[in-house]
Amino acid sequence: MTEPTHQPSDDAADARSSDAASRHVPVLLERCLELLAPALEVDGAVMVDSTLGMGGHTEGVLRRFPHVRVVGLDRDTQAISLASERLAPFGDRFTAVHAVYDEIRDVLAELGIPAVQGVLMDLGVSSLQLDETERGFSYAHDAPLDMRMDATTGLTAADVLNTYDERELARVLRTYGEERFAPRIARSIVRARQEAPLTRTGELVDLVRASIPAAKRQTGGHPAKRTFQALRIEVNHELDALAAAIPESIEALAVGGRIVVEAYQSLEDRMVKQAFAQGASVSAPPGLPVVPDTHQPYLRLVTRGAEEADEAELARNPRSQSVRLRAAERLRATPDHLRPTPRRAA
Ligand SMILES: C[S@@+](CC[C@H](N)C(=O)[O-])C[C@H]1O[C@@H](n2cnc3c(N)ncnc32)[C@H](O)[C@@H]1O
Repeated sequence: MTEPTHQPSDDAADARSSDAASRHVPVLLERCLELLAPALEVDGAVMVDSTLGMGGHTEGVLRRFPHVRVVGLDRDTQAISLASERLAPFGDRFTAVHAVYDEIRDVLAELGIPAVQGVLMDLGVSSLQLDETERGFSYAHDAPLDMRMDATTGLTAADVLNTYDERELARVLRTYGEERFAPRIARSIVRARQEAPLTRTGELVDLVRASIPAAKRQTGGHPAKRTFQALRIEVNHELDALAAAIPESIEALAVGGRIVVEAYQSLEDRMVKQAFAQGASVSAPPGLPVVPDTHQPYLRLVTRGAEEADEAELARNPRSQSVRLRAAERLRATPDHLRPTPRRAA
């Protein structure tokens, strides 16, 4: 986590930030605003946009709710600086912080904010990250095998591919990419790196393509799509961060506050679904004549199941194709026996 940043606007910055706006249409923006509205309409409301990206959702919130202040988190320093330029006209109603989203409560404590009325999470990779071909997220362009969302720290995709043993590689591809040819791809990777370490996305695409039987290559989109997704999740520890971030975000909410999450793949959506379901269920053993207050649900589900994009949204925004949106409202404090242990000793 680093210091909050406020960045001044200038002409060049305006050009860059309007570029940012045009490069990313926020997914289901109107629906997110509608779901957050009852919580954000209170005086002094604060919302955390945990996946600031290029600031599209945040800009929507700042425009729609003129009294609301937004704290935007992103682990990608480039996103932080682009969004800060774009949102500079909102002055001190917007604060950007370079952080991983499971640090939400530490960030709020440092800003002196005891609880917030809204949390928004629009998971996954941004169009900016995909467009910056040199960062290696895209299987469509040859680039260095990097894939770190925070390019300042951690293992790159090349490190993973060149150092994990074959079984570990197969596990990553199968678990995070749901890749049925994971063992064959892992074997090809290990064989190829015995000749020379893998360094380019193009080499990986060729390896994956050659590992998948020709008849199966025709279905399921680009043959390397699942391998790239799996590596990105592994490089960025995305599922561990999300598993910690959901309960941390719920803890950050004031009573009446709402959390809205947009997930784009089933592993993430399942985690959101389970965390919300736990909060919305009675936690007492079945058969008690009266449920004690300490075991009453502390969340209410605001969406019925997961919402998907309709035709109009799909036409506007192809990225919305796989979105699963869920929202919940905090009803009361989390009972002690279900509260996450603080990330840091207080
Ligand atoms: C889909 S984009 C968000 C786009 C944004 N809603 C908008 O309208 O511009 C997801 C962003 O979340 C960031 N991100 C992903 N995982 C993160 C994590 N664990 N902590 C903080 N930011 C994360 C990515 O770097 C990326 O910028």
